[in-house]
Amino acid sequence: MIDLHCHILPGIDDGPEGLHDSVAMARGLKEAGFQHVFATPHLPWGSATVDIADFRTRAELLIDAVSSEEPDFGLSLAAEHFSDLVPELLSQDSLICYPRGDTFLMEFPLSGYPPRLQDLLFMLQVKKKIPVIAHIERYPDVQQDPSAVEQLKERGCYLLVNLSGLAGAWSKAAQKTAVELVKAGQIDAATTDLHNFEGLEDVKEGIRVLTELVGAKVATDMLEATPAEIAGIKPGKGV
Ligand SMILES: [Fe+2]
Repeated sequence: MIDLHCHILPGIDDGPEGLHDSVAMARGLKEAGFQHVFATPHLPWGSATVDIADFRTRAELLIDAVSSEEPDFGLSLAAEHFSDLVPELLSQDSLICYPRGDTFLMEFPLSGYPPRLQDLLFMLQVKKKIPVIAHIERYPDVQQDPSAVEQLKERGCYLLVNLSGLAGAWSKAAQKTAVELVKAGQIDAATTDLHNFEGLEDVKEGIRVLTELVGAKVATDMLEATPAEIAGIKPGKGV
């Protein structure tokens, strides 16, 4: 399996505090069947201003540190871009994309869709960048009316659901929305959004729920073939 969304790097956001915890997460993910994981630290984290070159350098050093402890675990860098920061990063051509080069992970405020969403999506389309929307089940707009995802799909966005969301670890409303969207075939891929070792149990339960909802073949597509396509890597082979 391939994970497009994971907070596995130590001390850079609300993920693990130390290298030891990161390595434990890497081992746990590997045991659960993940061959390749994208480290997606929050961007920004803790400050509205970001030195993107510094952020990238720090994250790449942390990836090297985890990889040297767990060498046969595929780990590479992406980022979870907060939508408010995207116009600025786009103008500087400094989004941290997946290896494919045109896809990047984006999250909205938990209060809901950003006010000028259509302008943002249009701007991204002009620049040929494709947003991969994190944990679509969490946003109130979508919980109130799941057809709110259609405006994103019309603009070519990929939609992700969290396995922990499917397992009910976030909220009942998020779980109901996640199940409804998966059943309706609106979700492209499922991700861990793992922040700590303890969260692995919810990930495993999410895989079980996903398989029960759509069957083993579609579940495998959502956990391997489609994430590989979104990231631009070969399934099972890494970057
Ligand atoms: Fe996240």
